[in-house]
This record gives sequence, structure tokens and C-alpha cells, in this order.
Amino acid sequence: MENYEKISAEGVNENAAKLIGQGWMLITAGNEKLFNSMTASWGTLGHLWNKNIATIFIRPQRYTKEFVDKESVFTLSFFKEIYRPALQIYGTKSGRDCDKVKEAGITPIATPNASIAFSQAYMVMECKKLYAATINESSFLGSSIVSEIYPQKDFHDFYIGEILGTYIKIGKNNG
Ligand SMILES: Cc1cc2nc3c(=O)[nH]c(=O)nc-3n(C[C@H](O)[C@H](O)[C@H](O)COP(=O)(O)O)c2cc1C
Repeated sequence: MENYEKISAEGVNENAAKLIGQGWMLITAGNEKLFNSMTASWGTLGHLWNKNIATIFIRPQRYTKEFVDKESVFTLSFFKEIYRPALQIYGTKSGRDCDKVKEAGITPIATPNASIAFSQAYMVMECKKLYAATINESSFLGSSIVSEIYPQKDFHDFYIGEILGTYIKIGKNNG
């Protein structure tokens, strides 16, 4: 990642709800030989257990989940608006059925802890899995989320990852 500089997680000057909820991100896990990525707009950035952390939420049917389960590290790649079409592809097609790298035209790059991110990303976070669990239906506190979000009871697994490194692309127009 020679075109990136490492910054502290506290140095990210973006609102997490906007960054993830509106900007979307790619979750990637795997290695140079075999990896998979998917678009995500649900997630959190924060501080827990004296560490800077990211939490991601992955439904059981996603191919990417197999990779996140297997690997100790996952990455989050954040893109400028011009890459929205690529993120649409990553969010509507499965790596089980097609080669998303070819279809979306963004370039995988190796990250310091032997994971994968994308060279068009203006920011990349590498995260080490600390905790994984499944959203538990009986833990909802009287809300309508189960019926609205989980009509098929395909509850997300969530993964809390320690942010090992945050990398910002060098250059003025870092898109
Ligand atoms: C904007 C957007 C946000 C998404 N957010 C999530 C998410 O947070 N969690 C999730 O499990 N799926 C999410 N998805 C769906 C996956 O990206 C989608 O099912 C993808 O095709 C899975 O690819 P895969 O099977 O190669 O892993 C989102 C899709 C879009 C378009």
C-alpha cells in the first residue's frame, strides 16, 4: 500500500453514520489467491475494550461470510462517489456466481496483514476479529425490527474487529 499513509483511527475526520450509512464500504476477507468482497452500509466505528473497533453485520447467506469466518483479519475499503457503480455491483452480485473483480473493475491490493483491499479506495481499515456472535431474536426489546428486517429470520452475524491500521490515500484528490 505504497500510495497510502497510516493515520490513527482518531484521525478519521468523518462522521461514521455518514461514512458507512451513506457512503457504503466494501468488506473484504481472504488472501491474494482467494478472497471475496461485498458492499455494506450497516456497521459501526467506535471504542471498546480500550481499543478502536469496527463492527460489521453479515447475513448468513453472503459468500463473504465464509471468508470473514475463516480469516483472522478483514478490511473495510471506503470510496468516493464516482465508484458507486462498482459498489452497486459488489452489493447485488455474489462472488459465488461471478467474478466481481472483473465486473466492477476495481483493483485488489495486498494490505500489511496479508489481507486484501482496493487501490481505488481513499481510505482502508484493517481489522482483527475480536468477537463474533449472531443477532439474537429474543434480545430485541419490543421493537418491530424483527418483522421489518428479518422476515426470513436470517439474522446477521456481527463481528467486532480491532482497527489495526487506518490508511489514507496520499494526494490532493485522493479518489
Ligand atoms: C448499499 C448496500 C448495503 C449492503 N449492506 C449489507 C450489510 O451491511 N450486510 C449484509 O449482510 N449485506 C449487505 N448488503 C448485501 C450484500 O452486499 C450482497 O448480498 C452481496 O451480493 C453479497 O455478496 P457475496 O455473496 O459475494 O458476499 C448490502 C448491499 C447494498 C447494495
